[in-house]
Amino acid sequence: MHLRKITFSILAISVLAATPSWADLALATSKNCMSCHHSDRKVVGPAYKEIAKRYTNEPLALAALTTKIQKGGAGVWGVVPMPANPQVSEAEAQKLAAWVLSLR
Ligand code: HEC
Repeated sequence: MHLRKITFSILAISVLAATPSWADLALATSKNCMSCHHSDRKVVGPAYKEIAKRYTNEPLALAALTTKIQKGGAGVWGVVPMPANPQVSEAEAQKLAAWVLSLR
């Protein structure tokens, strides 16, 4: 009984981890992004869905957001700055930017 429950949890976790958007949410959580951002509503930073909407049909957004995630910046959404995120590699930043842009 107990063992079956554990097996089920392991199965559920592997299914979630195999789904790209969940894997990226886990990455964003581990990189501290979710302490300032939520997908659906503004926290300290803008909602990821609002970001995705803003850059619809913006071919350069992926590169710009990748840089911004790593280096930080201000002035696009208001006066509150996003600090630099040196714990994020360029590959991770690009993955996170692509994930955010996919959320609309
Ligand atoms: C300390 C709070 C904080 C943390 C931590 C943070 N952000 Fe932000 N983020 C902000 C704020 C504030 C803005 C709005 C900046 C602006 O107006 O230019 C922002 C903006 C953004 C944008 C939109 C940038 C633009 O130019 O439109 C993206 C994408 C983003 N954050 C992703 C991330 C990711 C991914 C992480 C984790 C690596 C992260 N943020 C961590 C506060 C934060």
